[in-house]
Amino acid sequence: MEQVQQAQPAPEDVVALIPRINIQAFCEDQNTANTMQSVIADRRMSKAHVSVHLGGISAAIQAFGNSKTPEVLIVESNKQRDALLSDLGHLAHVCDPNTKVMIIGHVNDIILYRELMRQGISEYIVAPVHQLQIIDTIGNMFSDPEAKPVGRVMSFVGAKGGVGSSTIAHNVGWLFSKQYATDTVITDLDLSFGTAGLNFNQDGSQGIWDAMSSPDRVDQAILERMLTKCSDRLSLLSANVSIDREASIDERAIENILDIVRSNVPCVVVDVPNIWSAWTKQVLTQSDEVIITATPELASLRNGKNLADFVKAARPNDAPPKLVLNQVGLAKRPEIPVGDFAKAIGIEPTIIIPFDGTTFGTANSNGQMIAEVDAKSQAFSSISDLAQILQGQEPPPKESKSPIGSLKAKLSSLRKK
Ligand SMILES: Nc1ncnc2c1ncn2[C@@H]1O[C@H](COP(=O)(O)OP(=O)(O)OP(=O)(O)O)[C@@H](O)[C@H]1O
Ligand SMILES: [Mg+2]
Repeated sequence: MEQVQQAQPAPEDVVALIPRINIQAFCEDQNTANTMQSVIADRRMSKAHVSVHLGGISAAIQAFGNSKTPEVLIVESNKQRDALLSDLGHLAHVCDPNTKVMIIGHVNDIILYRELMRQGISEYIVAPVHQLQIIDTIGNMFSDPEAKPVGRVMSFVGAKGGVGSSTIAHNVGWLFSKQYATDTVITDLDLSFGTAGLNFNQDGSQGIWDAMSSPDRVDQAILERMLTKCSDRLSLLSANVSIDREASIDERAIENILDIVRSNVPCVVVDVPNIWSAWTKQVLTQSDEVIITATPELASLRNGKNLADFVKAARPNDAPPKLVLNQVGLAKRPEIPVGDFAKAIGIEPTIIIPFDGTTFGTANSNGQMIAEVDAKSQAFSSISDLAQILQGQEPPPKESKSPIGSLKAKLSSLRKK
């Protein structure tokens, strides 16, 4: 049988630092599980989150029946060609298309290898495996110039000032890191007036100002120093807010910074200030998702529609922007009804958040997230639906007694008809 050629790399040849991703391994054999423990202990893996289980492919299928697969899934199988391919067919049903799958097999068979590559498996290596071989293989998956960047960029922009765009961006980013255990960087591009630092009780960094003025010098090491860590999986990239310096933002600088951030973390939440300039247009155009927050009033409708039309035209092959209708039901303020607003703007709101001065005001004063202030609030329920949708999952249908909830249910049932 023709064999797969593989060699154990020398330590100095394995240079890639593995990005801040989730990796899960399902081993058949205790030796492989031990090797995976040595992988975890390696310095190159210090940013990644790795967990190791026994039970091979069938345990992986069971584990991911209801949850999202990680960025890298390693499965071991000691079966022969046909049985292995059949197991992988079952695994494919629960595996997210963006997950890179590495297989550790026990048959050295080039025909099997070629078939696996044809089916989109990222790597097939033959046991016994060495820890450096695994790290090298994962590193190559992400350093390959053809490889897609690790992270998705999600930009949040307000249809006008003060509509709550930043608050929603920060809460969604926080949920990604807490509820979905996904490493997230919240980038606050409002260098002069940004609130990310306040909302997370953190000081911003001076470095982002320098990065803006000399974009070519920004590299991974400089970026690491600019990040402020909020928790194990959440970092902020925000400026030491000041109006002594005028923020002149260069399109190239922003592109470079976002590229470096997205090559390091799976989720990049960008808080885009409500200003219209070459660089804000560029950020919105190049993001994987755009979330426009609007309030149900005329100026928001006009600007929101202009923004949505721009985003749709600039990204013809992408999903339209998502609409968040915020601060709905503010007492004594005349409002455009939700249905009319959606029709005029041409997008159904993904979520509707009621005006809730107590919850948002408390969160604001205490530097807390909405979940920490009132996890039972309608505001939190809506924000967590948005986070879930942005994670690529449909939110479960909810029984809601509130008028907004039932309106939403009606809207979505109309949409399905
Ligand atoms: N649904 C809501 N109910 C009550 N208050 C809210 C709601 N949403 C946001 N807020 C409050 O509105 C204020 C403005 O929010 P935020 O700073 O997030 O808006 P923004 O769109 O980012 O504004 P800017 O244009 O200044 O960047 C904050 O005090 C926030 O707590
Ligand atoms: Mg803001």
